[in-house]
Amino acid sequence: MDHQTLEPHVLIFPIPFQGPVNCALKLAELLCLSGIHVTFLNTEHIHRPLLRHTQVLSRFNRYPNFRFQTIPDGVEHEKPVSGDRFMEVMDAVDVVTKPLFREMMVSGGLSRKSERPVTVMIPDACFSFAVDIAIEASIPVIYFETIGPGALWTSHLNLPTLIEAGDVPFKGNDLDQMITSVPGTEHIIRRRDLDSFCRFNDLSNPGIEFIVKQAHAIPRAQGLILNTFEELDSVVLPHMQKLCPNIYTIGPIHTLHKIELMANTKPSSQEITFSNSVWKEDQTCMSWLDKQDPKSVIYVSIGSLATMTVEQLLEIWYGIVNSRKPFLWVRRPGSITGGHDECRVPVELLERTKEIGCIVEWAPQEDVLAHRAIGGFLTHSGWNSTVESIAEGVPMVCWPYYADQQTNSRFVGEVWKIGIDLKDTCDRLQVEMAVRDIMDSKHNVFRQFANTWANLAKESITKTGSSSIHLGRLIDYILTMRS
Ligand code: UDX
Repeated sequence: MDHQTLEPHVLIFPIPFQGPVNCALKLAELLCLSGIHVTFLNTEHIHRPLLRHTQVLSRFNRYPNFRFQTIPDGVEHEKPVSGDRFMEVMDAVDVVTKPLFREMMVSGGLSRKSERPVTVMIPDACFSFAVDIAIEASIPVIYFETIGPGALWTSHLNLPTLIEAGDVPFKGNDLDQMITSVPGTEHIIRRRDLDSFCRFNDLSNPGIEFIVKQAHAIPRAQGLILNTFEELDSVVLPHMQKLCPNIYTIGPIHTLHKIELMANTKPSSQEITFSNSVWKEDQTCMSWLDKQDPKSVIYVSIGSLATMTVEQLLEIWYGIVNSRKPFLWVRRPGSITGGHDECRVPVELLERTKEIGCIVEWAPQEDVLAHRAIGGFLTHSGWNSTVESIAEGVPMVCWPYYADQQTNSRFVGEVWKIGIDLKDTCDRLQVEMAVRDIMDSKHNVFRQFANTWANLAKESITKTGSSSIHLGRLIDYILTMRS
């Protein structure tokens, strides 16, 4: 089998969370449109809610060269796992999924011994075990990293450097101390801006071990795919390239996906849905947005994993209401901890919310951010949300929760100048002022910079743009790996 010419067949294997699965499905569809066979391997607990999302399933059913496959993960719950349970899920995957995956790739249904062998593996970069399995199975591997490149560079790929330099674990509480051991970000990143995994104060923490493994695995792969565009991450990409020479920057992946899908779908097919959301989106907020003035609404969402306490909820809620801007707020079930009870919310706050607010459980976020009524985004700075906001030129108020979000928000404030980073604070007056600052139209430099970045994002996905060129390179690589 080894010297035979095989049909190009890619295995995409995301980590089982809404954001990465959403992003990986877009990559899968881009590859399908090029005629490449794609097997999308989902772990069971994240695949279950997707099975109910008929629009997504019927879109993928159109491709004879696409199929879903599932693999057990030992995770019982289906509903949102919060971010603090990330390691719990990854540990379960390590114990239950890893051996099954190895068997599948080395001697089982997707191995070189099978009828339709996989010719290139694209696992999430969190799966550090995948590179060894790929070597054992003689299959090239390209990692797909869905977190922000700033965090990937400073806190993940450089974690061994940070430890050697004594920057991690933190000694003392001086979170404002600059991190000088990482090339490229010496004048940008403070301790508080490193990935929150670095905030542990002892090296035996499983989070540290998890990232060190990743730092060793990623450079051993044949390539690395990132959801960014060259200009956006020019501070870190040249440095990262010394370690991982073959980087494919194909972002904003959602807009690249959208234009490719439109170009490849016959004009007669009216109903195209671009969203791959694992959860059902409440479309009623779109008609509410239609009734609002241009750039008047602040959109509030903390993504699929972040949570906030009742106290934080009230601070943010008062801050927004006091800014007097109309708001659309996604309140994901389970995202408020500590026994949130609407009965305990001051009546006056609920009354003012009725006048200017719309609250939903899950929104069609890409459409929301593209709506003319949206003027700002209060976000947890998840990487997908950040890129989606940049693509639409929407300035941000950042309230990062954990992981790469700490770094993403720093880049928003300090590097791209498109928002305000409220990291490590939660105070109603600060929220109110930040919302006003990014929304008010007079001399709004945030909006000016946001427009500049949005234009660069648009250029990157044109036929001659950097992201389209990188996608073409990726497809060419896959097409040549056939034996
Ligand atoms: C996770 C991590 O938390 C984040 O740090 C990392 O950068 C990526 O993976 P998540 O917390 O869910 O993701 O945040 P984010 O990356 O912003 O992804 C959320 C996705 O859900 C976005 O694509 C967004 O469009 C979508 N979304 C969010 C909806 O479709 N509807 C909503 O109401 C809210």
